[in-house]
Amino acid sequence: MSKKDFYVTTPIYYVNDVPHIGHGYSTIIADVIARYKRLTGYDVLFLTGTDEHGQKVEKAARDRGLSPQEHCDLMVGPWKELWRRLNVSYDDFIRTTEERHERVVQSIFQKLYDQGDIYKGFYEGWYCIYEETFYPESQLVEGCCPECGREVEWLREESYYFRSSKYQDQLLSYIKENPTFVQPDFRRNEVVSFIESGVQDISVSRTTFKWGIPVPFDPDHVVYVWFDALINYLTGSGYLQDDEKYRKFWPADIHIIGKDIIRFHAVIWPTMLMALGVELPEKVLATGFWTLGGEKISKSRGIVIDPNRLIEEFGEDSIRYFLLREISLGLDGEFTQEALIRRINGDLANDLGNLIHRTVAMMMKYFKGAIPESHQLGRLEEDLKEEALGLASIIDNAMNRMDIREALVQIWRVIGRANKYIDEASPWALAREGQTDRLETVMRTLLEAIRVITILIYPAMPRTAEKIWDQLGQADFKSVTIDDAKSWDGLARGTSVKKAPPLFPRVEIE
Ligand code: MSP
Repeated sequence: MSKKDFYVTTPIYYVNDVPHIGHGYSTIIADVIARYKRLTGYDVLFLTGTDEHGQKVEKAARDRGLSPQEHCDLMVGPWKELWRRLNVSYDDFIRTTEERHERVVQSIFQKLYDQGDIYKGFYEGWYCIYEETFYPESQLVEGCCPECGREVEWLREESYYFRSSKYQDQLLSYIKENPTFVQPDFRRNEVVSFIESGVQDISVSRTTFKWGIPVPFDPDHVVYVWFDALINYLTGSGYLQDDEKYRKFWPADIHIIGKDIIRFHAVIWPTMLMALGVELPEKVLATGFWTLGGEKISKSRGIVIDPNRLIEEFGEDSIRYFLLREISLGLDGEFTQEALIRRINGDLANDLGNLIHRTVAMMMKYFKGAIPESHQLGRLEEDLKEEALGLASIIDNAMNRMDIREALVQIWRVIGRANKYIDEASPWALAREGQTDRLETVMRTLLEAIRVITILIYPAMPRTAEKIWDQLGQADFKSVTIDDAKSWDGLARGTSVKKAPPLFPRVEIE
């Protein structure tokens, strides 16, 4: 029996600052996957949340004259609000300061210590607060952090270490035997060479500041923020709290992350799980960065795009569509307003918007909106029907490879086909000539194709799909499943289409 449960996660975001559009990207990808899986009958657990401990958050709180907890409680608001505005359908939002999580982290720390996989040592090395990461001298770039270019500080303190090195060989064989564990492929190669160059034990506690989960058996130490954060995926699955839920959802099917945090997810995290005797996640998918002027969009570098402004101006589905359609998963993409507007005016207003608009206008004109029955299909109708009904399996294939962009390209191919069909079938000529049966067949065929397209755009553009569904006069979208996109003649008898304002008004370029 195939597993019908699906567990998808996003990175948990640091609350030192408010979100920018780059953060929205991972969460939107996870949302599309979650919605697609639900549509195809899976019971989905979609987890996102915030990473609230560590020196960086502590410093941000201090700069604002707040306690770290007060700061986190305030900062979590803008994140949740953005996910609401982007229509993100998470099932659970985890905060690492929650008691449920702190308990799990402490139990894991204790267990690994008891079994000898965590030991006390002495840390000496370079630390970048911004990345919350230790770097060996050899990795520094001109003495600065190789990731963000900031100054690093020399740390010398007593520290607990996790014995990741012990699991190096096991991890290497695992990655080689499971070639889709790390995606895209070129990232897997990078991870493999990193592991082959030698996995070092990692420092997993700190003594120089307090904002972290106390090490249960040594209160002078707090747990290193990354060790704490990675465990959120287990906490969210019910691990050590709810056995039934944990058995249902673990191992996670996919962790969506950015490419900068791949080592934590594809090296450290798996070794932690191996030490715990817990199964590894199915897949770690690393996305590229959105850039502005070639530079990673990043609040602290002052390179930002406020997602809230974009949503107000263009609507959330336009933003979702643009981010998903514009770049192939795993690669970087330059964010420009011109490119966004080009997609809105082209793919959304012209292709999809016009298809709906023209169809509804003709339906009002010829049938006062009432959806007609079909008669004998001609060659043109058979063609469109075949293309539309073949789409679900093409998309399934793309989605199983997590190729959301390809799924959209395929949907837009059929949207283009439907637009062309209107011109070929020329309903206006049929109306003029009084060919009523044929006109009914053409309009019904068109509406059926739109019905199928609507179901398939839902994961990427949920609000738009619901709006079109409503224009088609169909009842609640909630009961729709992927099977409805695989069968023809699904428009309910006796229903009528409705007129509505354009879905995507053209954006004028100043
Ligand atoms: N808290 C850690 C993750 C812990 S997961 C157990 C963290 N947080 S973060 O807020 O700095 O970044 C979260 C995610 O946002 C990362 O995956 C990062 O790659 C992603 N992005 C941040 N800026 C980005 C872009 N400009 N473009 C695309 N994604 C980017 O790291």
